[in-house]
Parts: sequence; structure tokens; C-alpha cells
Amino acid sequence: MAIQYYERERVWKLDTKNTTYVIGEFDEEHFLGHIYYGKRLAAHDLGYVLGGQESGFLPSRNTKDRVNFMGTFAMEYPTHGLGGNREEALRIVDGNGHGTMQLQYISHEIYPGKKAIPGLPATFGTTADVETLEITAEDVLLHLKVILKYSVFEATDVVTRYVTIENCSEQTVTLTQVMSACIDMPNEQFDMITVHGNWAREGQIDRARIMHGTHSVESMCGKTSHDYQPFLAICSHNADQNRGEVYGLNMVYSGNFIARVTNSFPDQLRITMGIHPSDFRWILQPGDRFDTPEVVMTYTDCGIGQMTRNLHDQYRNHLIQGKYAHAKRPILLNNWEATYFDFDTQKLLRIAKQAAELGIEMLVVDDGWFGRRNDDNSSLGDWFVNEEKLPGGLKTLVDQVNALGLKFGLWFEPEMVSPDSDLYRAHPDYAIAVPGRRAGMARNQYVLDLGRSEVVECVYGMLKQVLSSANIEYVKWDMNRALCDLGSYGLPADRQGELLHRYVMGVYELQGRLLRDFPNLLLENCSSGGGRFDPGMLYYSPQIWTSDDTDGLERIQIQEGIAMIYPLSSMGAHVSDCPNHITGRTVPFETRGQVALAGTFGYELDVTRIPEADRNCIPSQVKMYHQYHELISEGDYYRLLSYSENHQVDAYMVVDKKREEALVSCIFVQNRPGDNSRRIKLQGLDPEKYYRIIGESREYSGEELMYIGLLADTPWAGGDYRGRLFHLQCR
Ligand code: GLA
Repeated sequence: MAIQYYERERVWKLDTKNTTYVIGEFDEEHFLGHIYYGKRLAAHDLGYVLGGQESGFLPSRNTKDRVNFMGTFAMEYPTHGLGGNREEALRIVDGNGHGTMQLQYISHEIYPGKKAIPGLPATFGTTADVETLEITAEDVLLHLKVILKYSVFEATDVVTRYVTIENCSEQTVTLTQVMSACIDMPNEQFDMITVHGNWAREGQIDRARIMHGTHSVESMCGKTSHDYQPFLAICSHNADQNRGEVYGLNMVYSGNFIARVTNSFPDQLRITMGIHPSDFRWILQPGDRFDTPEVVMTYTDCGIGQMTRNLHDQYRNHLIQGKYAHAKRPILLNNWEATYFDFDTQKLLRIAKQAAELGIEMLVVDDGWFGRRNDDNSSLGDWFVNEEKLPGGLKTLVDQVNALGLKFGLWFEPEMVSPDSDLYRAHPDYAIAVPGRRAGMARNQYVLDLGRSEVVECVYGMLKQVLSSANIEYVKWDMNRALCDLGSYGLPADRQGELLHRYVMGVYELQGRLLRDFPNLLLENCSSGGGRFDPGMLYYSPQIWTSDDTDGLERIQIQEGIAMIYPLSSMGAHVSDCPNHITGRTVPFETRGQVALAGTFGYELDVTRIPEADRNCIPSQVKMYHQYHELISEGDYYRLLSYSENHQVDAYMVVDKKREEALVSCIFVQNRPGDNSRRIKLQGLDPEKYYRIIGESREYSGEELMYIGLLADTPWAGGDYRGRLFHLQCR
């Protein structure tokens, strides 16, 4: 049993393989307090942590200091208005305009398995994988119920949390802030790790000491954004890849979020994570309920690398779904950087023919195949084929591509509408805008109001028709702007604050329907590169385009940051042509291939026009992907050296679960004297097993490779950006 309730102690204990999470009920007022989250404990009589019955602060004994108690007590789910300076998890406005609320424990339920969250993506598992605790608390004056839901995945050391609010009263209540998770704990000199970025520079890791005050990462642009990952880790100052305490939190959501740490006197930390309260107001009529998105939490005392591996296993086994969750993804060639908007059937077929000869497995036609779209100024929303470019329609093209032995994939941007489109001319009210104000454009486009079911129906109808018209086996779902001018023609004035969350639910509805109707489809999400790379999207698409930046050097850093949270199998990674279209840098073709190998492998170039020497590399790169894809997508990932930190070498490795096979990737970004005899300490091997490095005659023990290191020798005058792969196999 992963979850135990100790009635006498009034304590719930949630155990994973290596961690324990404890909640307690306290005092005659039935407060729910947070007792502990950390390394696994045997003890359960832990109620004393919240303060004994003799505590001077106890509200039932000491009414004169009630506010001081409220301000410092470690609440499991703090509500507004009771005292103290710390940010609460829940804020409401009741029918009288008041915001104060107090929760009291009412009942609880423990059951095997995990229920789905209506309308939202969430982790899942069988009754053997996961157990769930639901604790119901209530504000007895308002009759507002708050159900705290915890699911415990023992094997991956993960506890997930979310909250359901039920209005059991006879008055309308407005929710203005509903966090998905909150943890109170003593501050033991922690650092905070976050991941920030920009267009073409996603995945940059930040780490800083947590000072007093509040520190947060957030999105207020309607999608998760390039700016910050919906992720936060706190770790001990000494934590590195292999050592130290780390708490990682990641939100399964694709819209506005906030992840916040407050360090307040007397050195107490409060972590909250949930939908961003800015532009959020949700009306609960009597009888209504609201479900928050889910937060995934993991704890380890074995360093950042272990947090990463816990999240990877959780997402590979309990979030990513469908036919391709564990299956090999076809090596694709995307025509965006190859042709941009300038293509027709003949050009695409020339590329496809050459691609097929080289071993590439799928052609993806990117932006520009629909409406009258010859640049990015028109036609979004007009999802019917442009027969001037593709005479005979998609079927004619797809059949010929299939005849060459390639699969076929197609780009859409279903959430958008161009002002110059038939859709916008027919339904200007489908766009998000404030009546009477000119809505701002980005990339010359508006955002469709997907919170409205008629808009979802309209868009879905067009997608379904296109996808049913030919053998389309992959969709790249793009989303190229932020949301603003928040106004919906479909919502009354008092519900305009629901627009953003309804929008995200509309996106989920669309992607969910797509997968139900086309179960064999491989979906890849994208948002101007990695502007919406989050666990919510991973629930629908097993892979996400990591960045528009395919420069070998920039990608090393981007992929390091994204892979700290998400499995390698989810990172869209392609080889593109040089000089790179974004940075102008030239990195050897072989190295570009090695960088792309860390994700879903593919190409983003015109195979008929690249230098012959590069083209000749493709068959061996294809072979390399076939050889290593399983190890890379299913193995344990270890970050060995960080180019972002050392500005010289990038190195990571993947080890299969049996610790019998491993692949080490090193990229020597700058060829500096001495690097040709650099030793790299490996991780994750069995110290007692012997490993042969394929292509070399000697064998090394796991302990030699981990404690002395692998001699990663490179050619003396090989130049910059040289990569080396080492394939290790057990005797
Ligand atoms: C976005 C994507 C690119 C490409 C273009 C097409 O920028 O990130 O990969 O699909 O749109 O317009």
C-alpha cells in the first residue's frame, strides 16, 4: 500500500520507493497541515511536527494569538484572509464580496488507480502502478468543498496533485486563484532551478540561491511560452548531477501558469504552482465544480540527474500515450528550411525521391500548402489545399510520395486565423478581441476563440476533412503567437475571466478528438519552436519541436535544458543546412547529426541541393539512428558535462535499464590543446560489469569508466565542433 491513513495520529502517509509525503489533521478545528516531504521514512507518528496539543499557539486554546498561528502554520492548502503574509493557494470572492475562507477536514478516500481529470491532460497508470488519496475539506460557512487529490506512483518516486472545488452552497462564488499544489517546508538553504528562454534559445537553465522574498516563473501570454518552463526545482546548495536533495515540480498544463517560492520569516518556504491568477476569474454557480491542472512532484537525495530520470520515466510510462509512445518514430524530412513557401508538387517529389534513396522515411510538408498562402500574411483558417501549388490536391501528392516508399506528414496552425482569410471574412467574431478595440496582430494573425464550442467544431471539421482526404500519417501542430486583447464574443461580461482557461481546454478538446478519430496519427506539437513544450502537450503528442534553432552549437544548450525535464524521445531534433539559417554558423554535418540523434531524428533541408559530401553522410546517419534509437528513447539519461557551464565540451550518456549497453556522446565545441586526452567520468554503469567499447579492443570495468573516466580522445587538429560517440556493450 503506497498510501496509509493512521487514524489515531490523524496522519496520511504517502510512500514511493524512496520518498515519503505526510499530511496531518490538526486541532479541534480540523486544519490540514503539511508535515513532511522528503526521503522515505518508516515512522508515521509524526503529528507532533505540526505542534502538540500543548502548543502555545493552538487556536482552540489560545484565541488571542490565532492570527499568528495562521501566519506561520504549515497549511496543506492555505486559503485567503486568515492572517499572515504568505501567498495562499486559494482565493475566492463570495456572494457578499468577501474573500476569507477557512478549510476544515471532512472525509477522505483511498483507492487503487487514478481517475482522469475531465477535459484536462493528466498522468495515468493501472491499479498496479498508482494509488490515489482524495481528502475533502470544506468551508462550513460557504459550503465550498475543496478536494485535494494525490496520486502516488511508487516506482517513479512521483506524487501528483490537483484540486477540485465544488460549490455546494446556494450562492455564486468566483474563484480568483486556485493553485494546483502548495508545499510548506523549512528553508534549509536551498537553490532554485528554473528553465528560461526565448525564440530560438529555449531551454536555458538558471540556478540561484533562494533569498528571502518571493521568486517566481510564470506565463501570462496564454500558452506556456518560450520564456519559462512550467517547472521549478529546489535543491540543496551542494546538489549536482549525482548528489544532493532535489524537489522537482512540473505542471501538466499548456496555458498561463505561475510557479512561486516564498521564503519568509522564520525561514519557511512555501512553493505554489498553478494557473496564473492574472486574467483568471472563474464563476462557480451552485452545484458547479472546477478542476485544476495537475502538478507532478518528485523528490530525490541523489541529485539533479535522478530528478531528471524520475521525470523521464514518469512521462514515458504515465503521460505519453498512443501508438508511438514507445515506438520508433519515422526519420522525417521537413521542407520548411528547404523551400519555405516556395514549393510545388514537382519540387516536393524531387526532394522526396532523393530522400527515399538516402533512407529517409517520411516527407513533411510544412507551412504554405493551403488557401492562398505564399507568405505568412494570409489564409490561416482556410484549411483546404492550394491546387495551384499542388494540382490534383493532397491525394495526388501523397500517393506519389507513398509510392516512393515514404510516409507523408502535414503542417497545420489550427488555433489561428489570418485577417485575409475566408474564415475571418465569414466569422470575424471567432477571433479573440475586445469589441470596439483594434486587436493586436502578431505574424499578421489573430487567435481563434477556442473556448467556444462552435469554433472548435468549425476548425475540427476542416482538419478532419483534410486528414481523411489522403494517407496523412503525421501532423505538425503549430501555434505562432501569444494571446492578448482578451475578449470573447461567446462569453457574458462576468465570465470574460474564463477565456484563457477555456481556450486551453479547447486546444485539448481538438487534439483529443484528432487522436480519437485518427489513432494511428503521429502528432508533433510546435509553437514557434519550443514555445509550448510542456507536459500538457506531451499527453497528446509524443514529440514536440524543440526549437526553430537547429544550429548544432545552440541546440546542445537548448536540448540540455529541455532534457533536464523531458525524455529524449520527446525532443524534435533535425539536421539542417549550413550556414545555419538563424545563426549563420557552420558546424560539420556529422556533428549536426550527432546533436539531432539526442531527439527524434530528422532533416530540415533540401537533400537535392546540399553539398554532395553532406548528402553522402545521410545513409550512415540513418543507420546510426536505427542502431541507437531504442537506447536513446528508452534508456536512462545522464548529463556528464555541460557546455553551458564549461564553454568547451558537451557530454551525455544513455544506459539501458539492465546496465548492459550505453551510448556516450561528446561534442568538443572548441578544439583546445589538451582536449585530445580528456577523461570523462561516466555514470549509471554497473561498477562490477565489464564493458567493451565497440571498435576498440580493450575492455573496461564499470568502476574504471565511472571513477577514472573514459579517455575521450579526439584527433589532434580536428577543428571545432567535433563529435564522438562511444558505444559500450557488456561482455
Ligand atoms: C513556426 C515553426 C517552424 C515553421 C514555421 C512555418 O515558426 O516553428 O518550424 O513550421 O512556423 O510558418
